[in-house]
Amino acid sequence: MNILLLGSGGREHALAWKISQSPLCGQLFIAPGNPGTASCGTNISLSLNDFSAITNVCLEKNIEMVVVGPEDPLVNGIYDHFQGDDRLKSIIVVGPSAKAAQLEGSKAFAKAFMLRNDIPTAAYREFTADSYDEGVDYLKQHSLPIVLKADGLAAGKGVVIAQSHEEALATFQSMIKEAQFGKASEKVVIEQFLSGVELSVFALTDGHNYVLLPEAKDYKRIGEADSGPNTGGMGAVSPVPFAQGAFMEKVIERVVEPTISGLSKEGLIYHGFVFFGLINVNGDPYVIEYNCRMGDPETEVVMPRLASDLVELFVAMHQGGLSSSHIQIDARSASTVVVVSGGYPGSFAKGKPLTGLDHSRSEQTLVFYAGIAEQGGQLVTSGGRVAAVTSYGDSIADAVEHSLNAIAHIKYENMYFRRDIGYEFKV
Ligand code: AMP
Ligand code: GLY
Repeated sequence: MNILLLGSGGREHALAWKISQSPLCGQLFIAPGNPGTASCGTNISLSLNDFSAITNVCLEKNIEMVVVGPEDPLVNGIYDHFQGDDRLKSIIVVGPSAKAAQLEGSKAFAKAFMLRNDIPTAAYREFTADSYDEGVDYLKQHSLPIVLKADGLAAGKGVVIAQSHEEALATFQSMIKEAQFGKASEKVVIEQFLSGVELSVFALTDGHNYVLLPEAKDYKRIGEADSGPNTGGMGAVSPVPFAQGAFMEKVIERVVEPTISGLSKEGLIYHGFVFFGLINVNGDPYVIEYNCRMGDPETEVVMPRLASDLVELFVAMHQGGLSSSHIQIDARSASTVVVVSGGYPGSFAKGKPLTGLDHSRSEQTLVFYAGIAEQGGQLVTSGGRVAAVTSYGDSIADAVEHSLNAIAHIKYENMYFRRDIGYEFKV
C-alpha cells in the first residue's frame, strides 16, 4: 500500500526508515520531509496544516495510509477531516480525532480526564482572566517550587517551574494578562511539583486494545548534568532500566489501562500513538503529560528497538486486532545523541555547511536527519536540532559511546551536543 507520512524532523526520518522496511509498504511519501527521509521515499513539499493539499496528494498518489508525526495537524483535526470526506474515509489514519488529541492540546482537558479516570497525576487548579485574582491568592499560599502550564500548545515552551512566589506571579501575569502564548495561555494550570526520574512510555491503540512499544528516557535540558533551559530533546536511551517488574506493573495498572478504558468509556476516538510522559516518584508512576504522537528524540531509539513490522501493527490497529503477540523487541540497548546548532534553544545560525554524516554511519549507528536542508547539492543546517545519532550497544554505556564516536565524524560550525546522555544508567 502507498503510505503518506507527515512531518519533517528526526522523528519522521526514524518513522520513514522503519516504515520503508515493511513488505506491506508500496510507495512511501513524506511531506514535507527532509534530505534524510528522501533516502526512504519521496518527499513532497506542502504545509502540514494545508488539509486540502494533503487531500490532493492522497488522491493523486493512491494513498491508503497516513501516518501523522507531529501534534499540530492532529489537534487541528486531520483525523476528522479524513472521516468527513467520502473520498478519504477508507484511508487508515494513524493519529487520534481532534477531540481525543486534546489530551495533548489542552493541559486542563488532560488533567480533568485523569481526575475522572483516577489516573495518578500532580494536584492542580486551573485559572483564566475571570479567576485571575483567585489565582494570585492561590499562588501566594502554594508551596515551592510551583509548576505553571499554559493550557494549549506552546511549542514545548509553555511550562515554567517557578522557584519563588515572585517568579510564579510574574509568569502567571505574563501568561494570562499579557497573552504570552496567545490563546494557549488564556487558561493556566497550576500544579504541584513532583520530584523523580522521568520516562516516556508509548502505546499504540485503537481506543480499546493497545500494545506497548519500548520505553525511553529523553534528556530535555541543553546542558550536561541536566542544566540550563529546556529543549526539544538532546538525546534519549532505551530501555529504561527501572521500567520493569513492579514499577512497570504499576504503570500498566494505574496509568495505561485506565487511560485506554477512559478513552473507550468517554467515546474518544483514538487510533494512534499515546505518549505517556511519566515521572517515577519513589517507585510510583505519575503522569506529567500526555502527547498524542510519538516523542522526538524518543522515536529515534524506539523504532530501532522495535523488531516487529510497524505497518503490520498499523493495519492490526485499524482492524481492531492489536495484541502483544505483534510486538517483538530487539534485546540490544539503543541511545541517540542529538547534535544541535550552537545557541539553541536560544537564537542560532542556519545554513552552515555540514559534512561527515556518511562516515558517521556504521553497522551499529544510524543517523536521523532533523534540521538539515540541501542547498545546491550541499547539506546545510536548517534548525536547532540538526541530527539524531542513534547507536545500538550491549549496554546503554556502550550504545552512547558508539554514538559519541560516530559524532566525531560530523562537522559544522558551532556544533554542540551532550556527552552525558544516559548518565544515570551507566554505572
Ligand atoms: P511538559 O511540557 O508538560 O512536558 O513539561 C515540560 C517539563 O516540565 C516536563 O518534562 C518536566 O520535566 C517538567 N514538569 C512538568 N510538570 C511537572 C511537575 N508537576 N512536577 C515536576 N516537573 C514537571
Ligand atoms: N521528547 C519529548 C517530546 O517529544 O515531546
